[in-house]
Amino acid sequence: MCAWDWQAGKNAVVCGPMEIIIQENAERAARMTAKLIADAVREKPTLVLGLATGGTMEKVYEFLAEFHAKDSLDFSRVVTFNLDEYVGLPAEDPRSYRYYMEEHLFRHVNIKPENTHLPDGTASDLKSECQRYEELIKSSGGVDLQLLGVGRSGHIGFNEPLSALRSRTRATTLSPVTIEQNQIYFGESAMPSRAITVGVGTILESRRCLMLALGKQKAAVVAKALEGPISSMISASALQLHPHCTVIVDEEAAADLKEKEYYRLIFKTEPDWEAYR
Ligand code: GLP
Repeated sequence: MCAWDWQAGKNAVVCGPMEIIIQENAERAARMTAKLIADAVREKPTLVLGLATGGTMEKVYEFLAEFHAKDSLDFSRVVTFNLDEYVGLPAEDPRSYRYYMEEHLFRHVNIKPENTHLPDGTASDLKSECQRYEELIKSSGGVDLQLLGVGRSGHIGFNEPLSALRSRTRATTLSPVTIEQNQIYFGESAMPSRAITVGVGTILESRRCLMLALGKQKAAVVAKALEGPISSMISASALQLHPHCTVIVDEEAAADLKEKEYYRLIFKTEPDWEAYR
């Protein structure tokens, strides 16, 4: 594990490989993810935290709310930037990611509303909205810790297949796989076919990435992203280029990984992981 020095803003040691941690079930995987975020907030109370949505993150946010209520985890100076938002959905639409964030995290912790940021999917000029978002991330000092899920299409954020590895925040068309995956949140009505997403390049500029993947439906894409070639067809594979990326998976999502036993050995052996075992 390479220790990140949040205060100095640099890695304390030269980074090693991607850190892959296999937890026995979804509950433990989500708890560890939340614990890593909580520890980062405690080390740097002004943390700039990149956030993700989706079913995977619901439990993580539940744990963070619990840490706030029971262990006084303080979000008062934390600044957040979400990865994406659907084009055309206003904040008050229950299917928007702004609504999701309010429901699952923001209203349960002491974060200042003005410190929470998502792209505005209703902006009349989407290009300038994307540029504004990129600039806001930059002027806030850049993302310290980026939380990520992975879609079945291999996307991080909404960086669908073909997303350039150096792409920036932009409006994009969702892939058929993603539309099939996320349609459940829209019931009978058609879901938006476009979304604003931060780019793969934007994500790679975060100081640390933390990806969580759960369940057997993610096993194939997790194996491609972590052990396959780096390709714009699987945006999550770009994380192999990141100097400090931690990936937490449950047994089901780890099912297709070839080097599972080695990853387990690293987690059991490295002294820096002791507090998380
Ligand atoms: C969504 C979001 C991603 C998320 C992914 C996984 O569409 N845009 O940021 O990580 O897809 O979703 P889930 O956790 O529901 O599988």
